[in-house]
Amino acid sequence: MRQVTVSAPGKLMLMGEHAVVYGRPCLVTAINWRLKISVEILEESLLIVKTKESEVGEYRKALGELGKGEIPKEVKFVELALFNFLNKYPIEVGVSMQTLNKFPTQYGFGSSSAVTVCVIKALSELFNINLSNKELFDLCYKTVLDVQRQGSGFDVAAAIYGRTLYFKAGGSTIKQLVEEGIILVVGYSGVKSDTVAMMNLVQKKMESYKTGVEKSFDSIAKLVDEAKVAILDKDWGRLGTLMDYNQNYLEDLGVSTDKLNQMIEGARRAGAYGAKLSGAGGGDCMIAVVSADNKQRVSDAIQSVGGEIIQTEVNANGVTIISGSS
Ligand code: PMV
Repeated sequence: MRQVTVSAPGKLMLMGEHAVVYGRPCLVTAINWRLKISVEILEESLLIVKTKESEVGEYRKALGELGKGEIPKEVKFVELALFNFLNKYPIEVGVSMQTLNKFPTQYGFGSSSAVTVCVIKALSELFNINLSNKELFDLCYKTVLDVQRQGSGFDVAAAIYGRTLYFKAGGSTIKQLVEEGIILVVGYSGVKSDTVAMMNLVQKKMESYKTGVEKSFDSIAKLVDEAKVAILDKDWGRLGTLMDYNQNYLEDLGVSTDKLNQMIEGARRAGAYGAKLSGAGGGDCMIAVVSADNKQRVSDAIQSVGGEIIQTEVNANGVTIISGSS
């Protein structure tokens, strides 16, 4: 095969953020926003990346130079994904990669993990290397850690496995939940979150009051375990209540913002089953679980306090080979 096109979904954290970094479980769902990348074999020993991001345009690097020198942030995940792949599966030829669509980076939908997963999945397909989902996860997670040093890998798992997952850090547990029917309203706060800064903030809290924070994380873990059952039972009222409690702990940790709180309150007042921030906090999105009848009312309430509604469907398929040619 000379050329292959793959797509991988973004994600939304349902419950358990931050606690998951400290060994507790979380719930994540893949969403219908997908990144599409096409990868082609080159005769020369070269990486060429063509992105939709005009600042970079076309990026070229000799394979022998991968991982060295200043790497523009737009291509960091692509380059290190290839670097890690070649370290494990040495191949003489080069590759050209092209992103085929714009995937929004501002909402916190997991663009970096989707890119990484697309690249390594495409390479394994092109070079006939049969990777299990877990092997793919390990290689992609290593790449993400190489770039950003920390993170549980929940976003990588969502991009690979898809659907809704019960997940523990580093992929020690990845369990696909058979669920149909969660309806979420997603509201963007207008502020891009800095995930690493928020993780550092929580780490500081942990250093200054370990017993208290560990206790909160244990309580969040119980909420996540109950929420898993609620999802399997399709008990959306229960799921909403558990999300509300999870939000209280996140507020205590100091990762929510006034804007997120207003949107969450608005959603609850409009009759959502429950609402919370999604992801690291400090910005990005909030989510509300709703019934089909109440979706519009809750969306209007979020908009009325300045939130932007992002049309999203959950429970999407994981990484997919769209096409390939020889
Ligand atoms: O900011 P996001 O949407 O990537 O979510 C981060 C979630 C954390 O639990 C804070 C970090 C992680 O890697 O699990």
